[in-house]
Amino acid sequence: MRIPKRLVNDLISAKKIVALTGAGISAESGIPTFREAQTGLWSKYDPQDLATPQAFKKNPKLVWDWYSWRRELISKSHPNPGHYALVELEKQTQSFTLITQNIDNLHSKAGSKNIVELHGNIFRTKCSIENTLVNKWDQPRSSPPRCPNCRGYLRPDVVWFNENLDPKILQAAVKAAENCDVFLSIGTSSLVYPAANLPIIASHNDCTLIEINPSSTPITSLMDYVLKGASGIVLQKLMECIIQ
Ligand code: OAD
Repeated sequence: MRIPKRLVNDLISAKKIVALTGAGISAESGIPTFREAQTGLWSKYDPQDLATPQAFKKNPKLVWDWYSWRRELISKSHPNPGHYALVELEKQTQSFTLITQNIDNLHSKAGSKNIVELHGNIFRTKCSIENTLVNKWDQPRSSPPRCPNCRGYLRPDVVWFNENLDPKILQAAVKAAENCDVFLSIGTSSLVYPAANLPIIASHNDCTLIEINPSSTPITSLMDYVLKGASGIVLQKLMECIIQ
């Protein structure tokens, strides 16, 4: 793959860079994406049954057990060259914000510092009634476990469909998108809002927009540069060009 020289120069001269990542960046770590036809989680499972407050109310055990299965799968996976390339890019940049839709904690595991987790983190647990984080609980005979304080069911600290993002977290992401010189959209289908709005916000700001994805998305036409390919390979190559 040839990386345009102008793109490399834009990244080197940028003072403020934002990278928005989606499930695609973790695909090379063996974590399934959501919407890909054969392998995506939503091709096998209905999100309405597993990733909504209504689903949790109807069948809390099913939802808790499904997230426990995913937590188990994710805990065995490791960051890939794409995650590590973004750690390097952060080190090279005056101000770098990594906005992720992923709940898998792999950016943090790789060593990225300034991370905005839009959709929560599967390794955190909260009370479904009090909305407070809970670190310790008794193992029940039947899942889900109960909050030690109010006995309400515990749930993963992730954002489900039909739920709002934490306004402070969303505001931090919007502010970063409004103020950046370069915006990278990596491994996301750009179908889920408000995340999909962030590159649009950035585009109002005369910044350089770059998409890294093997497939086209609804925002591909908005981009200044489109690097088609797996993010592990493309980002590694990009960093080689920057560091040279
Ligand atoms: P999707 O599954 O919708 O999209 C994954 C994207 O990654 C697709 O555009 C793929 O082409 C691309 N892709 C696949 N392999 C790749 C690779 N090796 N390198 C780069 N890109 C690759 O996942 P998201 O866009 O993250 O929300 O989905 C957004 C949200 O929808 C998720 O955060 C989740 C889901 O429902 C919640 O659970 C709230």
